[in-house]
Amino acid sequence: MKVLVVGNGAREHALVWKLLQSQRIRQIVCVPGNGGTASLERCQNLPLSVDDFEGIARFAQVNNISLVVVGPEAPLALGIADYLQRQNLKVFGPTKAGAQIEASKSWAKDLMREAGIPTANSEVFTEPEAAKAYVAAQGAPIVVKADGLAAGKGVTVAATVEEAYSAIADLFSSRVKTVVIEEYLAGQEVSVLALSDGLTVRQLLPAQDHKRIGEGDTGANTGGMGAYCPAPILTPALSARVQKEILEPTVAALKARGIDYRGVLYAGLMITPQGDPKVLEFNCRFGDPETQAILPLLETPLEDLLVACVGQKLAQQPPIAWKSGASACVVVAAGGYPESFKKGHVITGIEQAETAGAHVFHAGTQKKQQQVVTEGGRVLGVTAIGEDFDAAIAQAYAAINCIEFEGMYYRRDIGYRVRTAGKL
Ligand code: AMP
Ligand code: GLY
Repeated sequence: MKVLVVGNGAREHALVWKLLQSQRIRQIVCVPGNGGTASLERCQNLPLSVDDFEGIARFAQVNNISLVVVGPEAPLALGIADYLQRQNLKVFGPTKAGAQIEASKSWAKDLMREAGIPTANSEVFTEPEAAKAYVAAQGAPIVVKADGLAAGKGVTVAATVEEAYSAIADLFSSRVKTVVIEEYLAGQEVSVLALSDGLTVRQLLPAQDHKRIGEGDTGANTGGMGAYCPAPILTPALSARVQKEILEPTVAALKARGIDYRGVLYAGLMITPQGDPKVLEFNCRFGDPETQAILPLLETPLEDLLVACVGQKLAQQPPIAWKSGASACVVVAAGGYPESFKKGHVITGIEQAETAGAHVFHAGTQKKQQQVVTEGGRVLGVTAIGEDFDAAIAQAYAAINCIEFEGMYYRRDIGYRVRTAGKL
């Protein structure tokens, strides 16, 4: 079977790496891929843009691709699944209508309200004055969100009313036309990535990520500086509640809107101090860096699950099998990220890191001649598994010690909540 994976991050590298573990997968083409996918046997990069639907469809048809797996949200929100399906290709990833669950927060909130899904109270505004009046009435802390895709930069958790006012002013003075203002929820966050075929929904192991750049979860928000799995906060009892109270009613509500949702339904949850799960956001794709922590623990062949979703046969699949133990992914970034950073630095020690027992997933790299050079803000996701979190985390950091490039930065406290010794 030949597979085409769309995207160029560490998430896509992890998806390709996992798929290639199966001998059934003859070849994978990654569009456009990165230095990591370029280095894998049976994988080749194809330098097309992720929104070149026509080019992707043509290549897939000519080359007998049996499955297209879409990594990032942007092409899904633009309708890549609809386009490819119209060309009779099989796509793992929701249609444009389904991707609204991530691409429009107001749409997602509406769906949740309709389906009675627990989430923060919120209101939608198209005028700054009305938004400010609502903030004045509600008080702080309060959360201000841009309605559309904002690459993780559209959310302000405002500690004061003034901070919320300035977030509202900033959003409306940019291109944003609609703003969602939301009740602040306290608690601990957890990411539940579930697979859906439009009828059935199955959870992958829960994960937690670290969004902030600085140790102790401080400083600017990033695309994610590390993740670990399985997150113990999602106990079996909570997982059962998430299934009944959140995932199943969401897939049913999508179906009621005529949306056959075949892909990842990613629920970003807050577990409140009372122990209740509430939805902070939905994403329409695999999480990054959660996927890099989840997939190394997966025993079931990934293609079985993806093909079952596309063919609407998830209910017939045996239970998803997992390795015991735990995994940790530490993101290695370019100095300066998430602000400005330099590209083009030569990376050394990746092979040694892998010999030391880690999987090195490439986030922003490029292969130039025989060298791997930095190409993005997040450069690598170094993942290790172990019999427990302490072992997995120690192994990931031992592997990072082998890696060098100018200005490299990583957090030294990934997984501090789950380590026996707490912060490193
Ligand atoms: P979102 O893109 O909606 O997931 O928001 C990004 C981040 O903002 C989340 O991962 C949370 O850390 C935080 N956040 C979002 N909504 C809320 C909320 N209602 N209460 C507290 N924190 C929130
Ligand atoms: N790790 C957060 C996300 O994938 O949106």
